[in-house]
Amino acid sequence: MKIYVPLDSAAVALGADDVAAAITSYAAKAGISVEIVRNGSRGMVWLEPLVEIEDAQGRRAFGPLSPADVPALLEGTLKSLGRVEDIAFFARQTRLTFARCGLIDPLDLTSYAAHGGLGGLKRALSMTAQQTVEEVTASGLRGRGGAGFPTGLKWETVRSAQASQKYIVCNADEGDSGTFADRMLMEGDPFSLIEGMVIAGLAVGATRGYVYLRSEYPVAIRVMRAAVDIARENALLGEDILGTGTAFDVDIRVGAGAYVCGEETALLNSLEGKRGTVRAKPPLPALHGFMGQPTVVNNVISLATIPVIFEHGAAHYAAFGIGRSKGTVTLQLAGNVKYGGLFEAGFGMTLGDVVTDIGGGTATGKPVKAVQVGGPLGAFMRPDKFETPIGYEEFDNAGGLIGHAGLTVFDDSADMGALAQFAMEFCAIESCGKCTPCRIGSTRGVETIARIRNGDHAAIPLLEDLCDTMRDGSLCALGGFTPYPVLSALNGWPQDFGVTTAEVT
Ligand code: NAI
Repeated sequence: MKIYVPLDSAAVALGADDVAAAITSYAAKAGISVEIVRNGSRGMVWLEPLVEIEDAQGRRAFGPLSPADVPALLEGTLKSLGRVEDIAFFARQTRLTFARCGLIDPLDLTSYAAHGGLGGLKRALSMTAQQTVEEVTASGLRGRGGAGFPTGLKWETVRSAQASQKYIVCNADEGDSGTFADRMLMEGDPFSLIEGMVIAGLAVGATRGYVYLRSEYPVAIRVMRAAVDIARENALLGEDILGTGTAFDVDIRVGAGAYVCGEETALLNSLEGKRGTVRAKPPLPALHGFMGQPTVVNNVISLATIPVIFEHGAAHYAAFGIGRSKGTVTLQLAGNVKYGGLFEAGFGMTLGDVVTDIGGGTATGKPVKAVQVGGPLGAFMRPDKFETPIGYEEFDNAGGLIGHAGLTVFDDSADMGALAQFAMEFCAIESCGKCTPCRIGSTRGVETIARIRNGDHAAIPLLEDLCDTMRDGSLCALGGFTPYPVLSALNGWPQDFGVTTAEVT
């Protein structure tokens, strides 16, 4: 029998390696023939390690599994969860970008192709560069790293730039707390990212690509490196992509653990071997990026979505979503939530649906107090914002941002004053030091929030003023967006700072 045991970092952290070892040893003792496939995660972290058995009856899931469950699993007496596709959390999703994640062996290119992989690239290879860019523009895809900039427009800027060398850089420095979509994708379906990068190269005329991957993701680094080797051996990368004479190659580069290196210009500096500090924009990386050449810098999810768009067509992708937020969003539910994990669906569900219905509310069973959407730079949303649809403009209008689509849930024991102070501390620790509003402002911000929490209410306008300066004067989103969590906490829960609603503007 074939047994799928995830190699995904979250599953491993919850004991997947021990379960795999227990299966091997029990099967050997009991004389049961097993083939273990280390797949990616199906995204239901509360069920990890989630193991699937494939036999004559089909594919059945079991989880969360411990080594002690293994004898019953192999003897056929353990109760199954049924098919993954029938579990409510999974059944409600529209899996486009994550269609293959957890389904296949991440390093089996044949299986990848059998599940729709390479279809997009083959189509792109029959198109001109301009048509390729137009297809992306028509899909409505916007940058999934957080800013939501139209991907087709970015590609067109690079395509029409004149240069002897252009680059595709994948931003895999997923630093937002509570987010894991990039990691899960790279660990579970690395060829989709490689295929997306090859298509991007065809579209803009780039022959070199880099994946800038954070050092905190050892499994993703291992899987991506192995996938690149396999891709080269099978003409998915190299001098002669799928026998067409087109060249494109990818290298994996590992970062050194700075949050700010997820900011595209700091990332480029780091990739060039320099200190990871932010560069002023303009010039945009699209025109003056890696080594001063026109460069597409896209997030993992943006690039891994490209093959789907080409496989099914731009119109198919654009049919999902709402307003200017087309396609699917890969939500990451984390924090104090009952059903944490990866949920991919068309834009448009309300925040409340996601948190209470899909996420099942808090893990502690206490009422939800706040949801921080968009990582450590995202606003804390109160339950009275639960009607907000998940969409870029819709969140902007509600005073928040979707960012990389991470949601961190807090129950009513959360101290929003402490969380605001933590947001400023985070900025102070992670600031690259290049610009004054972020470098000095964040340190003064920590002190000012402490003053307010200690009863000095005269410091409230000072904090508001400081936040304005950081927002308007910082070189990048680190200093520029820290005011979101800070002011949303102050305005949303003034009592947690020991002040009244009337005292905040
Ligand atoms: P941005 O709005 O400055 O730029 C977005 C992208 O569009 C960049 O790649 C930029 O170079 C490009 N661009 C802008 N105008 C262009 C033009 N005319 N032609 C071609 N390209 C153009 O935003 P930024 O600073 O890149 O990202 C901020 C976002 O990053 C925030 O919204 C935040 O949510 C997110 N973020 C994500 C993190 C993660 O772990 N994924 C961590 C921290 C922040």
